[in-house]
Amino acid sequence: MFSPTYILRPTQPSDAADIEALHEMAFGPGRFARTAFRLREGVAPDPQLSLVAQFSDRLGGSVTMTPIRIGPEPALLLGPLAVHPDFARKGAGRSLVRASLEAARRVGHRLVLLVGDEPYYGPLGFARVDYTKLTLPGPVDPRRVLLAGLVPGAFEAAAGMAKNWHW
Ligand SMILES: CC(C)(COP(=O)(O)OP(=O)(O)OC[C@H]1O[C@@H](n2cnc3c(N)ncnc32)[C@H](O)[C@@H]1OP(=O)(O)O)[C@@H](O)C(=O)NCCC(=O)NCCS
Repeated sequence: MFSPTYILRPTQPSDAADIEALHEMAFGPGRFARTAFRLREGVAPDPQLSLVAQFSDRLGGSVTMTPIRIGPEPALLLGPLAVHPDFARKGAGRSLVRASLEAARRVGHRLVLLVGDEPYYGPLGFARVDYTKLTLPGPVDPRRVLLAGLVPGAFEAAAGMAKNWHW
């Protein structure tokens, strides 16, 4: 019988094909042209902070956390976040975000950036940035540029351009 329960666990190399299929289904080929993609292009995601939701024998959801910089400061880019429609609205998306933020905080990260919907991510600790102060290196709707500060004062102090870790 189908069970809606799931566990969250760190991503393993053997998850790569399942995660890629999830991204293709959720975002299509247009994902490669997005500014968020360019920000993480060529940078290995953090395998401990990038989590999957495992529903029995199926990988039903995934969140990726990739090192970036905001101005001179190390930060993380959250995304893509995707949950397969078969497992939608069971809380997996929100759990993946909460758990990845908590894991990032535990290992000393201060800032997590994403491009996404404020109504979804706002209750999870993200808020819009002041886009005159913190910018992205490509076209983006500034209302979708969201930041979470993991320690007091980090959100307010964040400034400059977000950059790929290798730039
Ligand atoms: C967005 C997504 C990750 C949500 O996953 P999920 O596991 O179904 O989410 P949860 O169960 O944690 O939360 C579901 C709730 O979020 C709401 N929600 C989903 N997407 C939303 C959005 N873009 N904006 C606001 N609310 C949203 C749902 O309506 C639902 O509300 P309810 O609890 O009142 O029923 C999933 O729908 C998905 O993969 N979508 C396609 C890819 C995508 O858009 N990723 C996010 C990038 S911004």
